[in-house]
Amino acid sequence: MMNKQRTITVLGAGYVGLTTAALLAHCDYKVYLVEPNKERLDVIKKGKSFFYEEGLDPVIKLALDSGDLIPTDSYESSVSHSDVVFSCVGTPDNPDGSSNLSYVFAAAETTAKYAKPGLIYVQKSTVPVGTGVAVQKKFAETKAKISYVSNPEFLREGTAVYDTLFFDRVVVGGDDKAAVNTIIDIYIQLEKFRDHIAHVARVPKGPRGDEYIATSLNSAELIKVTANAFLALKISFANSIAILADKAGADVVEVMDAVGADSRIGRAFLNAGRGYGGGCFPKDVSGLISSGLEYGVDLDIMQAAQAQNSQMPGYVVDKLQDAMGGNLRGKRIAILGLAFKAGTSDVRKSPGVAIANKLYQAGSDVITHDPQANDEASHDLRKGILQADTIEQATKDADAVVVATEWQEILTYPAESFAKHMRGTTLLDAVNQYDSTGAVAAGFDYIGVGRGS
Ligand SMILES: NC(=O)c1ccc[n+]([C@@H]2O[C@H](COP(=O)([O-])OP(=O)(O)OC[C@H]3O[C@@H](n4cnc5c(N)ncnc54)[C@H](O)[C@@H]3O)[C@@H](O)[C@H]2O)c1
Repeated sequence: MMNKQRTITVLGAGYVGLTTAALLAHCDYKVYLVEPNKERLDVIKKGKSFFYEEGLDPVIKLALDSGDLIPTDSYESSVSHSDVVFSCVGTPDNPDGSSNLSYVFAAAETTAKYAKPGLIYVQKSTVPVGTGVAVQKKFAETKAKISYVSNPEFLREGTAVYDTLFFDRVVVGGDDKAAVNTIIDIYIQLEKFRDHIAHVARVPKGPRGDEYIATSLNSAELIKVTANAFLALKISFANSIAILADKAGADVVEVMDAVGADSRIGRAFLNAGRGYGGGCFPKDVSGLISSGLEYGVDLDIMQAAQAQNSQMPGYVVDKLQDAMGGNLRGKRIAILGLAFKAGTSDVRKSPGVAIANKLYQAGSDVITHDPQANDEASHDLRKGILQADTIEQATKDADAVVVATEWQEILTYPAESFAKHMRGTTLLDAVNQYDSTGAVAAGFDYIGVGRGS
């Protein structure tokens, strides 16, 4: 078991790094959080997250006040005192779809300069299979004696605190068994403090899977991308069936409810709609395809999933165009939801943003609203698209409304309230979760994705 008061450094204060650091700082560890982006660092030093994530702000604030969370931009002042370093830096995609590992290697290289002997370096970032072996080789070329472990992250934005506290499994891969066990001990320590942290964050307590899975380095890396690729595959599969359902006059929700009731299949991730987005699925799918090519393996199945997904925002826009008599020019369209999913302000590769931009390109007057992502989306929306502070403002005088993110605020906004001040009667539910019966009762032409007639 690890001694209390061990010192940990977390590299990268993004969705993963900030959550990891803030939670571990409540578990009797001193935690340095290294972030080179000054704007992000300044916000964190004030006790806040720079993105919206339920429960995270109070956890950060309390950890800062206790002195156990130390945000910094300095590797020297943090890594040189640390027993364990978690690397949580970004791994965006390159234009060719492969993973950009420049941050991963830069973080490892700088760590090696300041590492004390025996440091355990934990890769939490999602990296292509084989990356760990390459980083290990780099470490071996330096004087530092560093053990390398892969511990891929499975948290979901929107439930990041809950997922980290009440994980269903922790995967730790590596050849150094002692290092693997040390990392498992950190999670066992987290288990001890999780009820307290959940109370601070005001997140629910969850069922405890608590499964610890020790694997080889390469397997751990492949587990992470395989899990995300499979979820993306399920969504794309549901969307292919949705398009067939539209043509055949079936309802994909009824189909998937029944298909998913088979315990061998399961209902999760079979929601058809405008497709997946975010900072993980799109790049993890393209990264896996790219890894396959590197090893001479064609992952055609993932290429099909990717192609299916990229056509979905266009499919939604085409449906709207058909519903509006074939012409979108000059039509005022309200887009409700810009975050790539509910619970986050993240708009990376957001289908809602893609739909808004496509409608604008088609000549519509587009006005958008998101409960949390208006600021972040403003950089990605085409100039000329308006943003409203409320659902009411967005839908006023609109010819059509598109529900693009499954926020509760949007799903529970009564259809008769839209109807009152809209010009038109078209409601396109691009997430298939708005109350269709209520919409029809309020006089709307309700259109879903794959809801048939
Ligand atoms: N966001 C998620 O939901 C999620 C879930 C599971 C896994 N992941 C994976 O975790 C990794 C991080 O994802 P994220 O969404 O938190 O990314 P992010 O882009 O939000 O954050 C990465 C942070 O790392 C910082 N950084 C870059 N270079 C650095 C360096 N050399 N040293 C220290 N910090 C540096 C950046 O400034 C940035 O703030 C990615 O590989 C991602 O695929 C993300």
